[in-house]
Amino acid sequence: MKILAIETSCDETAIALAEASGGLRAPRFKVTKNIISSQVEIHRPWGGIVPNLAKREHIKNLPTIFKRLLGNKKLKLNLLAVTIGPGLEPALWTGINFAKKIHKEHFPKARLIGVNHLEGHLYSFLLAPKSKNLFPAVALIVSGGHTTLLLMKSLTSWKKLGETRDDAVGEVFDKVARMIRLPYPGGPEIEKLATKGDENAVDFPRPMMHTKNYDFSFSGLKTSVLYYLRDHKRVRRADIAASFQQAAIDVLVEKTVRAAKEFRAKSIMLSGGVAANKILRRKLKIKSSKLKASFFVAPTKFNTDNAAMIAVAAYISHLRGGKHALRAQANLTL
Ligand code: KG4
Ligand code: ZN
Repeated sequence: MKILAIETSCDETAIALAEASGGLRAPRFKVTKNIISSQVEIHRPWGGIVPNLAKREHIKNLPTIFKRLLGNKKLKLNLLAVTIGPGLEPALWTGINFAKKIHKEHFPKARLIGVNHLEGHLYSFLLAPKSKNLFPAVALIVSGGHTTLLLMKSLTSWKKLGETRDDAVGEVFDKVARMIRLPYPGGPEIEKLATKGDENAVDFPRPMMHTKNYDFSFSGLKTSVLYYLRDHKRVRRADIAASFQQAAIDVLVEKTVRAAKEFRAKSIMLSGGVAANKILRRKLKIKSSKLKASFFVAPTKFNTDNAAMIAVAAYISHLRGGKHALRAQANLTL
């Protein structure tokens, strides 16, 4: 089945083309095109994303990317997928309206389907080399807007074990980066600078690491960094980056591993923009192998926002007969 997917929930304009086959027990995907146009340079002077600028850029980028993807070929599609939320409402509408337009003009026979962005992240592990016996699985989704731990009984049934009670972990990477004068988005910048620092230089708190539940809290860690910088005038920024990164990752890994042990998970899945972080990937991989659980994370290009993951989620949703109204839902949940 041929799928074209569109993603405009935040500051990346992305369109992907994928081939999908197989049923819910063993779906297979081949991404044939994956175009992402990042607006990072446009939002950087503002230190974060400006929704109306994002909307303007998506409107400008979508037709260009679509043309580039199509070339001179006529395309036969089965599914046309578009992200409907969660995300910035004006940005989401640009994708939805564009999907409706090309549906009418180019692919009237294809099924037009709305996709939950978080299901996109969650299912991105299907773009990693895989094995059988995945479930039960523990899935950690870590992005700029979400920090969520799920227990998956199958590809289509899960229970939320916990989530952040305040800031998402990616958001805190971005905010701490700003405190030490690193550009937006902060996650990759912190990771880069941290390689030159000592992660034991400052003993930042690991909020809620030992609480019995599976919720997270990151705003206290952010405030600790702020106070540390206020009280210490001569600091090595690389040490702050490394120590902060270590504290955040320790909490994520500890809780994920604890859940995997408690529920005897056969696999651990990691997704979302923060999953691009090499230290987090490495730590979870090592811990998974100690538990004799498989570890799945998509290649880095499918961790941060992209449309290939939306194509994957669209296929799963199609197989299970899912339906979403084609309207922007800024606060859609899993
Ligand atoms: O999934 P994503 O692209 O967008 C949302 O759905 O939010 O995630 C973006 C977030 C940003 O906060 C960014 O700083 C963070 O992911 N991020 C990272 C890394 N790469 C991106 N955080 C830590 N380390 C990274 N290498
Ligand atoms: Zn995302």
